[in-house]
Amino acid sequence: MIDGKIGYAVLGLGIGMAHAEAAHLSENAVLCAVCDIDKKRLDEAHSMYPDATLYNNFDRLLNDGRVDIISICLPSSMHAEYAVRAMMAGKHVLIEKPVDITPERAEFIMIAEHQTKMTAGVVHQNRFNLNMYPIKQAIDSGSIGKLFLGTFAVKWYREQSYYDRGGWRGTWEYDGGGSLINQAVHTVDLMRWLMGEPVSVTAHAGIVNHKIDTEDLTASLIKFESGAVATFVSTTCAYPGISTEISLYGTDGTIEADGDAIKLWKMRNSVNEEKEEESILKRYGNGNLSASVYEPEKLYGHRFVVEDMILAVRDKRAPKVTVKDAVDSLKIVDMIYRSAKLR
Ligand SMILES: NC(=O)c1ccc[n+]([C@@H]2O[C@H](COP(=O)([O-])OP(=O)(O)OC[C@H]3O[C@@H](n4cnc5c(N)ncnc54)[C@H](O)[C@@H]3O)[C@@H](O)[C@H]2O)c1
Repeated sequence: MIDGKIGYAVLGLGIGMAHAEAAHLSENAVLCAVCDIDKKRLDEAHSMYPDATLYNNFDRLLNDGRVDIISICLPSSMHAEYAVRAMMAGKHVLIEKPVDITPERAEFIMIAEHQTKMTAGVVHQNRFNLNMYPIKQAIDSGSIGKLFLGTFAVKWYREQSYYDRGGWRGTWEYDGGGSLINQAVHTVDLMRWLMGEPVSVTAHAGIVNHKIDTEDLTASLIKFESGAVATFVSTTCAYPGISTEISLYGTDGTIEADGDAIKLWKMRNSVNEEKEEESILKRYGNGNLSASVYEPEKLYGHRFVVEDMILAVRDKRAPKVTVKDAVDSLKIVDMIYRSAKLR
C-alpha cells in the first residue's frame, strides 16, 4: 500500500502498457513499478511514468513491499508460472488472456488462489463492452425467449510480420495455438457467458495464409447443455480485418451485434417493438465511443478490468472475471483444438 492506495505493478510492457495507463489513472491505486527484460520497453515506460520503479528482474519486483497487485502481461504460456510465483510471494494478480495455454496449466493458478488466499482476476474485457449490458440482460431476463442458436465469427486479419514479431505468436509452445486462442478467445468467453456450458464440439482447423505451426482458421459447431447450438468461426486471414459478429436467436427475439455495437434488435413481446429497437440502436449502435458520459458503463476495456481488480483487492471481493471463468472458457478452446485433432 502507498498512502492508503493500492500499490500496482505491471510485468511485461506490450499490452501491459494499457494496464500501466489504467493503474496510473486510477484514483484508488499508485503505479509504483514496471518490469520487463527489454530495456527499450522499460525506457519507454519510464518516459511516460517517471515515478514508477523500473525492474528487469521479476524476483526483485516480488521483493518490492509496496506492490499489492501485479498485472501479468507476458507471452501466454508464462502466465500460470509467473502468476503462481507472484501469489506465493504475497501479491494479487491480474492475468492477461488467455489465462494460460491449456486448462491443466491454468488450474495451478486456482490451486495457488486456494492455498495463498490471494486474489486473481483475468482480462476478458469484452464482457464490459457497452453493447453487452443490454444483450446479457435480454438473455437473463428471458425477454429474448429460449436461446436456441448463436453464431459467432471473429474475422480478423494479421500480416505474417505480426507472427514473426516477438517469435511467440502462432506457436504451440508459447501461444498455445493461433487465431482461436489468441484473437478469438475473448469471443469464446462471451459465447460461454451468454450461452452456458457446452456438451459437444465438432471442429475443423487449418493453416490458410501464414507460415505458422498452429492455425489461422477454425470453424466449429457447438452444442450446449441448454440444447442450444452455436457456430463459431475464427480467422486471422480475413483481409483487411472485417469484424467480430455475434448473433443470438431466441424464441422471442433476435439480436445481432458487430464488434462492440448492436446492429439489430427485434423483441416480439416488447410493448412497442419499433420504439425499443430505435432506442437500443441509438444508445448502443455505435459501440463504446458514444457512451462515455453514462454510469455504470464509464470505463471500458483495460481501464474497467484494472479498476475492477483494484476495487476487488481493496474491498476483499472476487473480481468480475475469475480464474475459474477463464479456465472454463479455455476448456472450450481445448475442445475445439481436440476435435480438430490439433491436440
Ligand atoms: N486483452 C487483450 O486485448 C490483449 C491484447 C494483446 C495481448 N494480450 C495478451 O497479453 C499477453 C502479452 O501479449 P503482448 O502482445 O503484450 O506481447 P509482447 O511480446 O508485445 O510483450 C510481452 C513482453 O513480456 C516481456 N517479457 C518476456 N519475458 C519476460 C520476463 N521473464 N520478465 C519480464 N518481462 C518479460 C517481453 O520483453 C515483452 O516486452 C499475451 O498473453 C496476449 O495474448 C491481450
